[in-house]
Amino acid sequence: MAKNKFGSKLGVVMAAAGSAVGLGNVWRFPYLAGENGGGAFLLVYIICVLVIGIPVMMSEFVIGRRGSGNAVGAMRSLSGGRKWDWLGAICILCSILILAFYLVVTGWCVKFFLLSLFGAAPADWINTLIALGLNVLILGLGVEKGIEKVSTVLMPLLLVLLVMLVVRSLTLPNSGEGIRFLFEPDFTKITTDVWLAALSQSFFTLSLGMGCMLTYASYMKKEQNLWSTAAQVASIDTLVAILAGVAVFPAVFSLGFSPTEGPQLVFDVLPEVFHSMPGGSVFGVLFFLLLLIAAVTSAISIQEIQVAYLNEQHQMSRSKALVWTTAVAFALAMLCSLSLDGSLSIGGRGLFDWFDYLTSKFLMPLSAIGFVLYLGWFYPTEESRDEIKQGSEGREWLFQTWLWTIRTVVPAGIFIIFLHGLGVF
Ligand code: TRP
Repeated sequence: MAKNKFGSKLGVVMAAAGSAVGLGNVWRFPYLAGENGGGAFLLVYIICVLVIGIPVMMSEFVIGRRGSGNAVGAMRSLSGGRKWDWLGAICILCSILILAFYLVVTGWCVKFFLLSLFGAAPADWINTLIALGLNVLILGLGVEKGIEKVSTVLMPLLLVLLVMLVVRSLTLPNSGEGIRFLFEPDFTKITTDVWLAALSQSFFTLSLGMGCMLTYASYMKKEQNLWSTAAQVASIDTLVAILAGVAVFPAVFSLGFSPTEGPQLVFDVLPEVFHSMPGGSVFGVLFFLLLLIAAVTSAISIQEIQVAYLNEQHQMSRSKALVWTTAVAFALAMLCSLSLDGSLSIGGRGLFDWFDYLTSKFLMPLSAIGFVLYLGWFYPTEESRDEIKQGSEGREWLFQTWLWTIRTVVPAGIFIIFLHGLGVF
């Protein structure tokens, strides 16, 4: 069976950007930026994307394309054995946990989209089921006809919607206050915690540390320039995050609301904001459509990690793999969603929070560190150089800089997040 491939270079960028641009950009980024010193946070965040995010993305690209397979398969093919299976296994486990809570939140997007459109929405579990249904529909069409085609249509639509919302937001009275809140740099607010928040945000938003970009890279042709793909995906992702902040904060401030915590901001405050804004019902529909598009094109990438794994390592057809991963995702998402009212809690933490905590604090940093250490110290430099030079002009200084970064700065940076997650400081 020939390996699945993406069709066009643009399609690759759209699919990877579709994965990267998600809930992390539309609600998490604006809130974090607002709370952590506005423009100062933005600066720290951009440094993290450039110094750690892009090198890690390149590492996942190299492993995925060179190894031509899912997280487990690619590591086996590069290392020629099963010594690194644990790394792939962490990725698969991580994707199962993340998919569960990501689907719950995608379900909220479905709910608010339906609410803003029809004034009514079904019960929460049905909304989650609809979110999962969308995933199955797209993944069922395959890598090129599903993931790539759908992202190529939806990503430009997302940008158009976002620009419309930005224009609406900026033309509200007193929009300047929101803009100042987001951009005015307050350098006194840059603490260790801000660095850590920026670093883990850059991982989550670029879809790193879970074999997601690795799996997508296994669908890239050798003509694809890995450097420019990484640069384009990171730029689109950062641009969307900033624009989302510009769309959200002026509206929140202009109408006298205060920027509260993450999920509430988007799901509790914004419907109110739209309610009291001229033309709000239309902009409400557009906003939740945007959120839904962002969420779905990311959710498919998380499920694809598992589908690719079952398909390639366990000789299961894609449809069968889709059925299995969907069943597991549905069961876990239901448990996650039940845990939100305080039931099903272990050690004072609900399942939803546990999944989020375990993945973002431990599993994702661990697998990212595994990938960079493997490429930096165990895999022959010649081989990585050869892979990166396929499809690019192959500037040697760029390669050397990348190699040095993934050997030193990146593992050190991630190790610090890890210790912080353990509560060491
Ligand atoms: N990047 C997405 C967001 O910002 C979420 C996401 C999709 C993700 N795939 C991932 C996060 C893989 C970590 C790993 O919402």
